[in-house]
Amino acid sequence: MTDVQELVQDFRRDGFVCAGPVFADDTVRRLKAGAARLIDRFITDGHRSDDYWNYEVEGPERPVLYRVHNLEKQDWPEAELLHRPELAELAAAFVGSPVVPTAFALVLKEPDRAGGVPWHRDRTTVGPHKVCNLSICLDEASPENGCLEGVPGSHLLPDDADVTAVRDNGPKVAIPVSEGDVVVHDVRLVHGSGPNPTARWRRTIVIEFADPALKLDS
Ligand code: NI
Repeated sequence: MTDVQELVQDFRRDGFVCAGPVFADDTVRRLKAGAARLIDRFITDGHRSDDYWNYEVEGPERPVLYRVHNLEKQDWPEAELLHRPELAELAAAFVGSPVVPTAFALVLKEPDRAGGVPWHRDRTTVGPHKVCNLSICLDEASPENGCLEGVPGSHLLPDDADVTAVRDNGPKVAIPVSEGDVVVHDVRLVHGSGPNPTARWRRTIVIEFADPALKLDS
């Protein structure tokens, strides 16, 4: 069996898998620099828009940024890297059909102040193994700085499964990553993540890939 076949087998059983690095180091560095500039527009330049998702905190401090939505529409030269064929080819291996990218976002946890992400499923309107998210990890991540966690096999549960009960029954499995790793998860997976009380960033570019025959709500 090839490595990819093993990964696909794990993905089908668990609903997620770390596929390791996909891009060369210099490409990861460019993506990372691009992400840092986008974040800087919010933190340093005071840029605000509907695509910069954030929440207010008590006191005089600025809001906490947690997502740059519609990443492909932002003004940054590295956006073309998101259309590299390596990513779509990897996603196609998991979904088992040709794929198109259906969402791009920069998901981030600011050092020292980011809260956790409540447990959820991204979509339940599609069956298992039809739509996946590729997370290009721009920073090393572990439970300490709020890496992704999921319940293995939960992508196979019925659409109306109780997310909180599934989380509480577990097992909750953390998916630690190195810089440059790509994590693939089924959009039906029950997943969440903890806060980031560390001094380290946790930044991830998430791209959703779907079979083009599917009609997805945005
Ligand atoms: Ni999610």
